[in-house]
Amino acid sequence: MPLACVRTLFLIAVSAFSLNAADDSNWWKHAVIYEIYPRSFGDSNGDGIGDLNGITQHLDYLKELGVDAIWLTPFYPSPQVDFGYDISDYTAIDPEYGTMADFDHMVAEAKKRGIRVINDMVLNHTSDEHPWFKESESSRTNPKADWYVWRDGKANGQPPNNWVSIFGHSAWQFEDSRKQFYYHEFYKQQPDLNWRNPDVRKAMYDTLRFWMKKGVSGFRLDAITMLFEDANLRDEPYAEGTNMFGDRNVTREYTDNLPEVHDVLKQLHEVTDEFPGRVLIGETYLHTPEDLAKMYGAKNDELQLPMDTQLGFLNKLSAPEFRSILTDAETKLHGNTPLFVFENHDNKRLIDRYGDGVHNDAIARLLAVLLLTPRDAALIYEGQELGVVDVDPKRVEDVKDPIGRLGWPKEKGRDGERLPMPWNADTDAGFSTAKSTWLPVSPDYKTVNVSVENRNPNSLLSFYKALIKLRKQDEQLRDGEFVGVDVDNPNVISFLRKTKDGKAVLVSMNFSSAAQEVKLDLKSTGVSGTHLKKLLASSADLNPPDVGHISLPPYGSYVGHIQ
Ligand code: NOJ
Repeated sequence: MPLACVRTLFLIAVSAFSLNAADDSNWWKHAVIYEIYPRSFGDSNGDGIGDLNGITQHLDYLKELGVDAIWLTPFYPSPQVDFGYDISDYTAIDPEYGTMADFDHMVAEAKKRGIRVINDMVLNHTSDEHPWFKESESSRTNPKADWYVWRDGKANGQPPNNWVSIFGHSAWQFEDSRKQFYYHEFYKQQPDLNWRNPDVRKAMYDTLRFWMKKGVSGFRLDAITMLFEDANLRDEPYAEGTNMFGDRNVTREYTDNLPEVHDVLKQLHEVTDEFPGRVLIGETYLHTPEDLAKMYGAKNDELQLPMDTQLGFLNKLSAPEFRSILTDAETKLHGNTPLFVFENHDNKRLIDRYGDGVHNDAIARLLAVLLLTPRDAALIYEGQELGVVDVDPKRVEDVKDPIGRLGWPKEKGRDGERLPMPWNADTDAGFSTAKSTWLPVSPDYKTVNVSVENRNPNSLLSFYKALIKLRKQDEQLRDGEFVGVDVDNPNVISFLRKTKDGKAVLVSMNFSSAAQEVKLDLKSTGVSGTHLKKLLASSADLNPPDVGHISLPPYGSYVGHIQ
């Protein structure tokens, strides 16, 4: 007899993918990828700025955490206007971060620990100090004159059109030497490359080859949807409201996600295919699953892992909305692997966006379960596993991120989520030995740090470790098909990860501040058992006996085998 409150069940017919251990070219499916902001991870030489050797020193920690790969934000030579996202040489190391020998050593040490290295690759723009730009700006006739997006202004000296930089104000900068404007989607020190020029493509593809030869396992492609702008330079239609800098909002339909980008993604795929097992990750803030699906390519010949930012940046604890995004990821991405992400160096920490101040710890665990138990690849940003929160600068003169100075006090910039990694309760949180660090350590570093949390079996860090271990070792969590159940429940998301032999793991997550009782009837899923054997739960006393009696505390989460 079905129980009274059992809801309809939905079974998604996406065939379970299975990882073939012998062929690790698909290692990125179901991988845990850990984002490192090198400036803030570990400082080996005591100058207050993180560096490559600082990363190498902490590789054992990452191995213990269970990560498969690390993505390093840019460490190339740069004037550091945008802290590395303004690159002046794509095939070298900025002395602030070390040397090429340090890089090679880091890759070799990571490999010994089974950890792959993924470089950030900024294809949309270079620094204005890059020799390519220096040459390009020098005249209208030099060999690189067409490497960037140059245009004449309007007759009255105004920019060519109304395009607005993501970092505020007009996206056009006048250059006296050419008496022309150049386009910059980001800071004016980050001129956009002209991707319609085949020489630009070739030069960039060669930089990818350079790093793959050095043993990197792939690239995170910065601002990849923005490579092209409308060739006719049409004005963007205005959208409602203003941005943080007081400019009228525009739709960005002529500067973002243009169809031409797919041609380049195919070529990038071909280039990385020259080196087996390489992965392309996209920074893809796309608003619909249909647009996201296109990033994989019609023949799976574009990106392997475009980021699904719809889940992690929903920014409200809504079971129906999270469920709908999970369902889209299963049904609308043509069976490809979604890459979920909740945090990065550009956005407020997840506790700042989802926490309620009362249940923050339970909420952090809930979102860890949401990130690490579906059929997905998962990104974790350094410190997320510790429950680090944002700490914004208090005074404008302390702000390092230029958008925080331009937009102060409304927009305080991204310093808050880039504070040094807290390793222990010593000086500089164990990050450095310097008198002062480039950004201050968080005031709570004596309690929120790796050393303290490592010693506490009930810490968030211990929870992350256990979850990642389970995700790797448990056959159902690793290879199982995703089957949503109890799909009309307004507060609780429940799903199975089920293998062909009928074995299943149940995941149940309460997204509300009230306790919830869940009663499941799994008959139509083909799973015969009803008893539950706990694998992991957000609290020790959460141990339901069977699928008909699951009591979840506020924001409680549960993972267990059905027997
Ligand atoms: C996205 C990066 O994550 C961000 O930090 C950077 O400022 C912009 N792209 C521009 O490169």
